[in-house]
Amino acid sequence: MVQIGTDVQKAKDYLESGQVIGIPTETVYGLAGNALNPDAVLQIFKVKNRPSFDPLIVHTDSIDKVESFVTQIPEPARRLAERFWPGPLTILLPKKAIIPDLVSSGLETVAIRIPNHPLALKLLAMLDFPLAAPSANPFGYISPTTARHVAEQLGHQIPYVLDGGSSQVGIESTIIGFAEGGPIVYRLGGMTLEKLEAIVGRVSVRSHSTSNPKAPGMLSSHYAPRKPLLLKKPEEALATYKPERIGVLAFEEITRLIPVEHQQILSVTGDVSEAAKNLFAAMRALDAFDIDVIITELLPEMGLGRAVNDRLRRAAFK
Ligand code: TXA
Ligand code: MG
Repeated sequence: MVQIGTDVQKAKDYLESGQVIGIPTETVYGLAGNALNPDAVLQIFKVKNRPSFDPLIVHTDSIDKVESFVTQIPEPARRLAERFWPGPLTILLPKKAIIPDLVSSGLETVAIRIPNHPLALKLLAMLDFPLAAPSANPFGYISPTTARHVAEQLGHQIPYVLDGGSSQVGIESTIIGFAEGGPIVYRLGGMTLEKLEAIVGRVSVRSHSTSNPKAPGMLSSHYAPRKPLLLKKPEEALATYKPERIGVLAFEEITRLIPVEHQQILSVTGDVSEAAKNLFAAMRALDAFDIDVIITELLPEMGLGRAVNDRLRRAAFK
């Protein structure tokens, strides 16, 4: 049986013996293993049931350590790293041979991030290797934002989940890379475009793909509950479903048209950061209700709203 606890030493022991465990980060929980040990990395793909063409993010705790995993850090990338790490930003950098090809799925770049979570940083500082960690959910399902979510879904396959409380950002990191044309965001996430652009100027976004993606948080159907999720107003859904069979994922307000016990409100004050933090837990709760369909609405398309909307659209894509 999986154990949930706050014992960093125990987490370290498991990782040093080549096992994979759940770890907290400020974005979502990760399924972590020694990034320099191909057997541990293979185990991550297996536990997550993840296709091997989908590369992993490598987590570490200092820019000095990053230098030993990559051949260079371009100027704009370094400015972002110094400004936003630790934080919800992943940067694609040209990899050194020390990073196994399995981690990067054969790509020449490796995705790197310093997470902003005290327990994760403490653990990373105690280890003499970085941690490869995808979100700790079965491939395609909703990412976990508590230790319990991880234990419920992957508990039969891992020995330990390090419990760091609820993830404060609640959606995955923003992924940025640097091609000749300038900075490109491959996945919208916890670091807003507005903040990135304030440091490196105009950023283009290339985060949509329906088939065999080069960067698969890009897969159109992803982050999805098992029940169908539709971008519809209650009035529209009521043409097809009875009110008691509909669940609502709403930004600020409940609707009188649907039973209140089947509604999840992301932020009663209309705070987009709070909405992001609550998003995945709310989707999970709705998925567990005795209903046939979940309906939702998009947030204003700015700041973190863009990343929340990206997750809602992917969850709704069939
Ligand atoms: O917030 C996060 O980023 C969380 C926490 C645990 O750090 N991790 C996470 O990992 O979301 P994962 O594996 O669920 O998503 C990683 C994404 C994938 O979509 C993958 O395709 C992309 O990063 N990625 C990784 N390496 C890449 C590379 N070299 N080039 C392009 N995309 C890459
Ligand atoms: Mg994921």
